[in-house]
Amino acid sequence: MVTKASGAVCGECGGRTYVIERRGDLAHARVCTCSVRCELCDGRGYAYETREETFSAKVGPKRYEVLVPCVCQHRAKQMAHFNEVGLPGVMAHASFENYQPAVPAQGMALNTARNFAYTFNKTGANKGFILSGPVGTGKTHLLGATLKHLVLEVGMQARYVEISLLYATIRRGFQEGKSGGEIIGPLSEVEVLAIDELGKGRGSQFEMETLDELIARRYNAGRTTLFATNYSLEPERRGTRAAAPSGYRTTEDSKTAAREGELLRERVGERIYSRLCEMCSFVELPKETPDQRRMRQELDMRPGPPPGGMRSGR
Ligand SMILES: Nc1ncnc2c1ncn2[C@@H]1O[C@H](COP(=O)(O)OP(=O)(O)O)[C@@H](O)[C@H]1O
Ligand SMILES: [Mg+2]
Ligand SMILES: [Zn+2]
Ligand SMILES: [Zn+2]
Repeated sequence: MVTKASGAVCGECGGRTYVIERRGDLAHARVCTCSVRCELCDGRGYAYETREETFSAKVGPKRYEVLVPCVCQHRAKQMAHFNEVGLPGVMAHASFENYQPAVPAQGMALNTARNFAYTFNKTGANKGFILSGPVGTGKTHLLGATLKHLVLEVGMQARYVEISLLYATIRRGFQEGKSGGEIIGPLSEVEVLAIDELGKGRGSQFEMETLDELIARRYNAGRTTLFATNYSLEPERRGTRAAAPSGYRTTEDSKTAAREGELLRERVGERIYSRLCEMCSFVELPKETPDQRRMRQELDMRPGPPPGGMRSGR
């Protein structure tokens, strides 16, 4: 944490040295004005580091100084990585701190995402997560908070894609003579990928093949993938109902759910679904979880002074 000479923490970045703000459609990270000129290296970008090594047993250990990139360079790189994530601008404010669970399942979703982010193993395998639930329940918010932490605090490279935008981009690419693989390639290789709105789309053969290829490539390479979906998980996978005995939901219920086309398994197919089961832990938010967007609109429409509701935590 950076404090000013006065000892006060910067009011703009809270001592983080960077600020995330909306720039056009995307969330953008920049160095905070308090840290534009690095005090550690005086803006040179490099600093001396003292090392000790024994080159010859006769002479014994020797101390020497080397020039190494300063932490500010490291920061700049992480911010450049953040600006490649493609996180929607509306998620610029999203953090774990300003996510408020309204129902217990949201508390579970928050814990799952936060634990994942804070215990991320940079060199080993990491099991991802799938958040399933109705619109406006903060699924994209938690994906955003997770990617932010992984890129800016852990130092990973990550990408965010909304599935129907991805299909559209590939289709447009075809018209420009690009192959689907050119677009899928970087997404299958990035260290962490978040796929939002899984199951959305027309379910065409093109879409299914694209998704299948992307997930298969990431699965085979053991890479971490996170998902959010409006579709329901299988009854036995529902974290929030895990305590209920299996078979608690009658086959009639399952049939109804399937008929309404609301099961993720039906949307993505058996092959992809079974891979997801291996790659991720599941959290499902129940139907009655309140829609934050609608709640906010209702608050906005109320006469009187604007509510002090949501903090914009950076
Ligand atoms: N539990 C929550 N606490 C704080 N903000 C929330 C919460 N749930 C949703 N929001 C906010 O409401 C808006 C809609 O949430 P979003 O993550 O887009 O929902 P979803 O992806 O589930 O449809 C966003 O601005 C998000 O930051
Ligand atoms: Mg969303
Ligand atoms: Zn600052
Ligand atoms: Zn520096």
